[in-house]
Amino acid sequence: VKTYHLFLLGFGTIGRALSRLLQEKQPLLRDAYDVAFSVTAVVTRRHGVALGLGGLDPVELLRAGEAGGKIGKRMWEPAALANLLKESAADILVEITPTGRMTGEPAITNIRTALQSGAHAVTANKGPVAFAYRELRDLAERVGRRFLFEATVMDGTPVFSLQREALPAARIAGFRAVLNSTTNYLITQMETGMDFEEAVQQAQAVGIAETDPLADVDGWDAAFKVAALANVWMGATLTPQAVDRTGIGGLDPAAVRRARAEGRPYKLVCRAARTPDGIAASVRPEQIPLEDPLAAARGTATVLYLETDTLPGLIIGGTEPSPKTTAYGLLSDLLSIARGEGYPPNS
Ligand SMILES: NC(=O)c1ccc[n+]([C@@H]2O[C@H](COP(=O)([O-])OP(=O)(O)OC[C@H]3O[C@@H](n4cnc5c(N)ncnc54)[C@H](OP(=O)(O)O)[C@@H]3O)[C@@H](O)[C@H]2O)c1
Repeated sequence: VKTYHLFLLGFGTIGRALSRLLQEKQPLLRDAYDVAFSVTAVVTRRHGVALGLGGLDPVELLRAGEAGGKIGKRMWEPAALANLLKESAADILVEITPTGRMTGEPAITNIRTALQSGAHAVTANKGPVAFAYRELRDLAERVGRRFLFEATVMDGTPVFSLQREALPAARIAGFRAVLNSTTNYLITQMETGMDFEEAVQQAQAVGIAETDPLADVDGWDAAFKVAALANVWMGATLTPQAVDRTGIGGLDPAAVRRARAEGRPYKLVCRAARTPDGIAASVRPEQIPLEDPLAAARGTATVLYLETDTLPGLIIGGTEPSPKTTAYGLLSDLLSIARGEGYPPNS
């Protein structure tokens, strides 16, 4: 059994979900894949740093993490990352800190440091792929390590690995998608008769919308995802700010209800297409016909319609996003590293 040492940079909702999933899958990973993942470092911003070369006890960590207590006596110092990676003999950095809205930092620096220190990097954080994909991909290639980010778009639904592993020699012409669960849920609730504020309160009550739902409502989260997909798949160098973006805040609930009744529902549609002037990318509410595959995504579901030169319309979707579905995206990247070590392609 080959053991990989993991460095969890961030131990919030997703870090804890990954820790639980690793425990759940441990026997299967050992028996079917001949691999084990041992967490040797965990970093939080305010709750300390835990290091343990023999592998930290996941039960103890989860207990402390869920209780909101300290996980270790040492405090986090961003400048100490390279040393901590060495001290914990980390093979893979798992970057799961909050997304830096304006620049993608500090996650970009963290991933750069990990790659330069000889570790692979996987992340659920959209910032690095939306702002610095090319730089980090090239760096990973130069140092013979991998930089993977399946969980950044549609949680664990395989989108980046689908293109990487299952679409050889296909050229991506563009895509249309519903990528933000919260806004899709809000639109679905408005279709049933709620006004906007009621829909937001209801989404917050069931844990779908953040306390501050603006990143979703204004289309920022979707713009990050469009930039990430276009950068990885279409050779774009977009930032989220360069995506032509309109959120759902201006939608009139009565118009949303009427649109659904008339069979042309609203969706917050994400698009990217090649044009003579480069890649055009947008996020905006659009009315679409019921027979459009995007119309099938109701509530928190997501759907992606991919156009390639060899397959004119490939559709993939996901339902019931949760911390576990995101953790699965990270786990699939960890396994890609474990299974693919030795052959180089970065995504
Ligand atoms: N939640 C989801 O469903 C979901 C889905 C897809 C992608 N993601 C992405 O996954 C990432 C993690 O999300 P999450 O929900 O787990 O976030 P979270 O619950 O807020 O946890 C963030 C963790 O990072 C630590 N942290 C915050 N700022 C830091 C900094 N500057 N340096 C080092 N550590 C720092 C926090 O420590 P303290 O607790 O001590 O502050 C906490 O342990 C985000 O980028 C998010 O966009 C999340």
